[in-house]
Amino acid sequence: MEQILLLITIFASFVFSGRCSVSDVYNYSRNDFPEGFVFGSAFSASQWEGAADEDGRTPSIWDTFAHSRGGPNGDIACDGYHKYKEDVKLMYDMGLDALRFSISWPRLIPSGRGPVNPKGLRFYKSFIHELKRHGIEPHVTLYHNDLPQVLEDEYGGWIDRKIIDDFTAFADVCFKEFGNVVKFWTTINEPNMLAMAGYDIGSGPPVHCSPPFGLFNCSRGNSSTEPYIALHNMLLAHASTARLYKTNYKDKQNGSIGITCFGFWVIPFTSSEEDKIATQRAKDFLLGWVLHPLFFGDYPDVMKRIAGQRLPSFTEEESHLVKDSADFLGLIHYRTTYIEHSSSSLHEDYLSDMSGLIIPIGNSTAVKLHVLPWGLEGVLEYIKQNYGNPPVYILENGRPTNHDSSLNDVGRVEYLGAYIAAVLNSVRNGSETRGYFQWSFMDLFEVIDTNYTYGLYYVNFSDPQLKRTPKTSAFWYSAFLNGTQQESKNLSVSSSPGFASQ
Ligand SMILES: *[C@@H]1O[C@H](CO)[C@@H](O)[C@H](O)[C@H]1NC(C)=O
Ligand SMILES: *[C@@H]1O[C@H](CO)[C@@H](O)[C@H](O)[C@H]1NC(C)=O
Ligand SMILES: *[C@@H]1O[C@H](CO)[C@@H](O)[C@H](O)[C@H]1NC(C)=O
Ligand SMILES: *[C@@H]1O[C@H](CO)[C@@H](O)[C@H](O)[C@H]1NC(C)=O
Ligand SMILES: *[C@@H]1O[C@H](CO)[C@@H](O)[C@H](O)[C@H]1NC(C)=O
Ligand SMILES: *[C@@H]1O[C@H](CO)[C@@H](O)[C@H](O)[C@H]1NC(C)=O
Ligand SMILES: *[C@@H]1O[C@H](CO)[C@@H](O)[C@H](O)[C@H]1NC(C)=O
Ligand SMILES: *[C@@H]1O[C@H](CO)[C@@H](O)[C@H](O)[C@H]1NC(C)=O
Ligand SMILES: *[C@@H]1O[C@H](CO)[C@@H](O)[C@H](O)[C@H]1NC(C)=O
Ligand SMILES: *[C@@H]1O[C@H](CO)[C@@H](O)[C@H](O)[C@H]1NC(C)=O
Repeated sequence: MEQILLLITIFASFVFSGRCSVSDVYNYSRNDFPEGFVFGSAFSASQWEGAADEDGRTPSIWDTFAHSRGGPNGDIACDGYHKYKEDVKLMYDMGLDALRFSISWPRLIPSGRGPVNPKGLRFYKSFIHELKRHGIEPHVTLYHNDLPQVLEDEYGGWIDRKIIDDFTAFADVCFKEFGNVVKFWTTINEPNMLAMAGYDIGSGPPVHCSPPFGLFNCSRGNSSTEPYIALHNMLLAHASTARLYKTNYKDKQNGSIGITCFGFWVIPFTSSEEDKIATQRAKDFLLGWVLHPLFFGDYPDVMKRIAGQRLPSFTEEESHLVKDSADFLGLIHYRTTYIEHSSSSLHEDYLSDMSGLIIPIGNSTAVKLHVLPWGLEGVLEYIKQNYGNPPVYILENGRPTNHDSSLNDVGRVEYLGAYIAAVLNSVRNGSETRGYFQWSFMDLFEVIDTNYTYGLYYVNFSDPQLKRTPKTSAFWYSAFLNGTQQESKNLSVSSSPGFASQ
């Protein structure tokens, strides 16, 4: 506790001095990580590319969602589609080993299935080539929340098993076209969060829910069944894609393929036995939902008992297909929360089935994250102990700040420094974690709250040129990547001048 207070004091003083001596705060450097450990940054196609209706791209469920809410949308975003060379140069100058990004399905295959869009193909080939030319390893996510709207309209997207073949065919194009260069494939971004947000509470695309469970009035959906069906189909689509890769490409291309899991960490709200049991149940619902099938071939018993017939079951063949289908696990971690036992007898949607209330720690909200690095250690240790210590890449971790507050984002530096230290602790204690990707390289079109962004680079969305400006965190991460902290005891990270009061 005292250490935390000390850190806060040190950081508070940066705000005024405009300088921070990283080595005074963090006594480690990247050289303390094992040889080959990868440090990168990340973004997704629909949050960075823009060019939403250019060169043959069709709308995705993400576009529809963004437009339905009024306010800002991602049609232009960072205009990465046109500015990719400039951005790769910034990544190179920062010293990134790798970049995690996604391929937009409706840009590559605008009808969802069928013909490939040559202009979409050319864009990704050029972008990947540009990364490689600068020595930056591409880590590609195939699905990052942007289903072609035509497939949602045609058969309901992820709630229909037709998605399995369509997704596998899309992935086949990517392996064939990019697989000689791309060695790290992630099939689906945070399936558990997509299923919960998109099909139970309706807070994310495609906004399916049913009363009384939705946060919004959804025009379609069934919160009792669809979250389970959608997640099930995501696992089957992942497994089908992984089998295709292993059968047709892996030997030739020497790559690996994994899937991500949104990795909440949870602790009991009180020391009561009920809260402890509820916390384990929440771990099974939040993490086990994805991880049990991947590592054991079936859902956790507690989920099967509570959700009963509403939880789809795997045939023996599907179970074999899903089990051990991932070469690595991509972990997405931002938050730790309490779980309080909820005695409601209403078992009708995914969250009420969990029977645990998610209670924020302190004053944290979805966009105001406390620095709780032990939560990341907790989830990594849990994966190590309960799922056979698989190779893990942390594919997202970062802290949002108000987009227009300040370039001197010391709060982000504090968060990243503490969480990377947590990764080091976990690795030293035997976790097979092999990489860390900060979210996000630059400010993006964010969907939870567009006023809160995660970038190392500030993007001025009011400027027609969408100028990128490094924040203090960009200088800090760059110095960290260069391994200069330990050698230079007084390493100074010159902060950018702020443009508004914090
Ligand atoms: C940093 O300091 C802490 C507390 O003194 C210590 O536990 C940790 O091992 C140190 N880390 C490194 C990389 O030296
Ligand atoms: C949903 O619709 C009901 C009835 O029309 C209305 O009372 C309620 O305020 C709406 N809720 C939201 C979140 O829009
Ligand atoms: C959801 O699906 C279940 C199972 O098919 C059904 O019993 C229930 O009535 C449906 N709920 C809604 C709101 O449509
Ligand atoms: C794949 O790896 C093997 C052995 O490590 C090597 O012989 C082969 O050339 C590699 N193939 C490609 C396409 O990189
Ligand atoms: C929460 O916010 C209140 C009001 O700003 C503050 O007094 C309190 O110390 C905060 N608590 C924590 C744990 O940060
Ligand atoms: C370190 O690993 C050991 C063996 O897996 C485990 O018992 C211990 O709890 C771990 N320590 C921490 C701090 O997670
Ligand atoms: C974002 O900021 C603008 C301008 O201050 C404000 O109008 C809008 O309500 C904010 N959005 C959210 C989601 O709070
Ligand atoms: C953003 O760009 C607009 C338009 O060019 C300009 O007026 C404004 O000062 C810029 N804001 C910042 C913070 O640079
Ligand atoms: C990395 O650090 C060395 C000094 O240790 C310095 O000479 C070099 O310019 C740095 N490189 C970058 C990209 O910051
Ligand atoms: C580090 O900073 C301290 C105080 O600011 C100064 O006395 C010392 O000479 C510096 N050391 C180096 C190696 O620059």
